[in-house]
Amino acid sequence: MSWAGCVGIAIPPSIYSRKLGGFKMVSRDEALNILKKNLKNKNLRKHCLAAEAIMRKLAEHFGEDKELWGMAGLLHDIDYEETHDDPNRHSLVGGEMLAEMGFPEELVHAVKAHNEVHGIERESLLDKALYAVDPLTGLIVAAALIKPEKKLAAIDVNFILNRFKEKSFARGASREQIQCCSELGLELEEFIEIGLKAMQEIADDLGL
Ligand SMILES: [Fe+2]
Repeated sequence: MSWAGCVGIAIPPSIYSRKLGGFKMVSRDEALNILKKNLKNKNLRKHCLAAEAIMRKLAEHFGEDKELWGMAGLLHDIDYEETHDDPNRHSLVGGEMLAEMGFPEELVHAVKAHNEVHGIERESLLDKALYAVDPLTGLIVAAALIKPEKKLAAIDVNFILNRFKEKSFARGASREQIQCCSELGLELEEFIEIGLKAMQEIADDLGL
């Protein structure tokens, strides 16, 4: 069954509108619409926006394709609500959805590999970045929320680093996974700095 059949959403051919690196890609607006159709939970949408912002910033850092990396961040959890009752399918369903929409194999692989339960090896820089970014957004949000201001502008890298070291703080944000920034050749401090800056730039969208 096609992913469209799985989730009951038809994707019009008109979305295959933009070429990127020889591959068919949807526009950012169209991707946002796809996200909204598939994810109703506002916090989950914000997580995706945060992941997009950090992925774009990382792409810039590494001289990689910002559009492609941003799109991977934005759409990596596209199947989250669809696979809620069966987390073992999470990311495989999403990867197939995105493949059918014409996204490049590189992006599809990164999305599938970001859920480690499948044992898919992280091969590219994109794979490694998406994997490490995923839990970082939650850590940064949680750090901002314990400040009286509840704003990203109220926290800095050291504050987040100290929260990182507190095992009981934001347990859901896997420290081990965030530490995988080392696979990118990044020190934890630098990775957090890039993540915080990226999220601060879209603070209004994140409501923080
Ligand atoms: Fe995620």
